[in-house]
Amino acid sequence: MSNNSIDIIKLGGAVITDKTEYKKIRLFELREICEQIGEWGNPCIIVHGAGSYGHIKAKEYDITSGFRESSQIQGLMQIRKDMHELSSIVVEELIKANLNAMNFQTSSLIYSENENMQYKYFLNPIQKAMQLGLIPVLSGDIVFVEDGDFNIISGDVIVEILANNFQVNRVIFITDVDGLMVVNPETNQKEYLINASVEDIKSLSFTSDISENTIDVTGSMKGKVESVLSILRSVNEVIIVNGQEGKRVLDVLKEKDAVCTRIK
Ligand code: IPE
Repeated sequence: MSNNSIDIIKLGGAVITDKTEYKKIRLFELREICEQIGEWGNPCIIVHGAGSYGHIKAKEYDITSGFRESSQIQGLMQIRKDMHELSSIVVEELIKANLNAMNFQTSSLIYSENENMQYKYFLNPIQKAMQLGLIPVLSGDIVFVEDGDFNIISGDVIVEILANNFQVNRVIFITDVDGLMVVNPETNQKEYLINASVEDIKSLSFTSDISENTIDVTGSMKGKVESVLSILRSVNEVIIVNGQEGKRVLDVLKEKDAVCTRIK
């Protein structure tokens, strides 16, 4: 991979917000993570999830079913406003950590051509921003669909699109768990996967890491595994690391040993 390749960092909604309570930020965790990214300081794109700034209202207004009735427009407006608020907090913390972070609104750059979620996008502004040494920050969002509909785009799908269109070395998912949890076929016990290949991933069965009282309208663990497989077609390594445990994020960014799942 050339020296020009970048890493993409996804800040999971479950680590930067409390997913059980509407618009509850986890400022301490967010700050700790931003400081570690700042200490590392290399070129990257950051994508953050929605957590309780998106999933709760998305469920309330049944956004994943697409446009059905005009009352959903209120939900769409509210979620966009809430996501804007969350992105502003994220960018503020990144700037405090000495990073040249700048927000880009996902739904202004990406839209869906059809119901099968084939996306059209205009990523030149992101590329130009990076040439100026900026760190683009995008988020999960509600995107418009060609036929007058709308749907949710998760941060994981945005990461996929970016990985397919930029020269990306690693994708690092910062979550609230120690990695991908699998069921060991020999012992039938649940355990975190440490190192794996794409073949391993295809043959393993995964357990959900989402507690029952959280709402996630974009698919949780199953969706994550599908995204990881798709991302691995265009990047060297995908890492899933817990952002709530000491300096693991910094260790991973600096390519040191850390508790995490690495898939090559
Ligand atoms: C969801 O984004 C976007 C909205 C609900 C508007 P993600 O699916 O990436 O969010 P998290 O990381 O699971 O919270």
